Amino acid sequence: MVEKAKIRILFVDDEPNILKGFKRSLRPLRSLWDMTFAPGGKQALTILEQSPFDVVLSDMRMPEMDGSQLLEIVRRTYPGIMRIILSGHSDEDLIMKSVKSAHQFLSKPCEKQTLISAVSRAGYLDNILQPSGLKDRLGGIECIPSLPSLYEEMMWDMDRGSGSADSVGRIIEQDMGMTAKVLQLVNSSFFGIHRHRSRVREAVSFLGIDIVKHLALDMNVFSRFNRALSIVGVEEIHDHSIRTAGIAKQIAGDGKMGNGKMNAKTADNAVICAFLHDIGRLLMAEYFSDQYERVVRLAGQEQMTVPEAEQAVFNVTHAEIGAYLLGLWGLPDMIVEGIAFHHSPARAEPENMELAGLIHAADLIEHHVSQGENLDRCMDKIDPAFRQKQGMSEKVAQWLTIADNRGGN
Ligand SMILES: [Fe+2]
Ligand SMILES: [Fe+2]
Repeated sequence: MVEKAKIRILFVDDEPNILKGFKRSLRPLRSLWDMTFAPGGKQALTILEQSPFDVVLSDMRMPEMDGSQLLEIVRRTYPGIMRIILSGHSDEDLIMKSVKSAHQFLSKPCEKQTLISAVSRAGYLDNILQPSGLKDRLGGIECIPSLPSLYEEMMWDMDRGSGSADSVGRIIEQDMGMTAKVLQLVNSSFFGIHRHRSRVREAVSFLGIDIVKHLALDMNVFSRFNRALSIVGVEEIHDHSIRTAGIAKQIAGDGKMGNGKMNAKTADNAVICAFLHDIGRLLMAEYFSDQYERVVRLAGQEQMTVPEAEQAVFNVTHAEIGAYLLGLWGLPDMIVEGIAFHHSPARAEPENMELAGLIHAADLIEHHVSQGENLDRCMDKIDPAFRQKQGMSEKVAQWLTIADNRGGN
């Protein structure tokens, strides 16, 4: 039997009692985690030089080197390591310094279960990405760029100080990069107080306009696409995503109210998951542009689909790339799986399969509708392994009817 690799985690805190507390309460996990403890940033960096780690979890307020300084060095030197910051609520100003260097933000005191699920993600995400060799590049990404037009509008609004949470929420919800950043923050236990939020405008008003302004103007967490613009149709991908989210919303709305057959969590996450399902294409085109040019050429010349060409060049597709980064950023598991398996929903965990299938169907429906094709032919394109799962074939037929009755838009 192949033994599952242990997650190697480095805890950094200047208070000996906190480290002792971690040691004591996490002892039962010794068979799954290799735990090392450092009393400060300098010691942590020495330990990191000596052996590889999967996760660094650092306290924010420490003498000499604070958590955000440490994590920024880790980001630059060992970008593939998952970086988690731990901070007390009185340190809100301080934690803003880490919004680009940390992947996830936990509040102090941290519930054991919250900590366990944040760290356990490292192993799960490795499985999604393997063995593409892209982990370091993805781990170092601080933000996902925005559509130039929406970026300008956002910065204009912020500069003039005229934006309200509602007007800014309306801009953010049309842009995949800004949406992902906002969801990264509100889904963390520090900013989100343990409630998963999947509605963008609600998330923006929860964070508050002052925080969004600070993020935009002082922390520069929003940026605009550069290289991707000459490689893929960035606007087209956004338009496709907005329309796919619209279709997912219709299906989820009917599925929830109609005969009540749809899981409530599926319905809640459907819109945001559909909106973000192709975010990996944007990431690949922006951050791996030379290789992605080859993907575009292959897909054009060799009669390959885009995912087939991505697989040939990267050994992984945009589905896994998008899911990996959003998973690293702490978005809910269900959304991560819905994105990872939107081409192959039967591979999702049973509790997430309905959402992955819904995104798969909405994606196909959108392609059919935008090409003026009849939805009758859509059923044949649904992943056969998914259709064979119990009850899924009827569900897909029902979803196609809902989309067809509404004209698919
Ligand atoms: Fe896709
Ligand atoms: Fe798509």
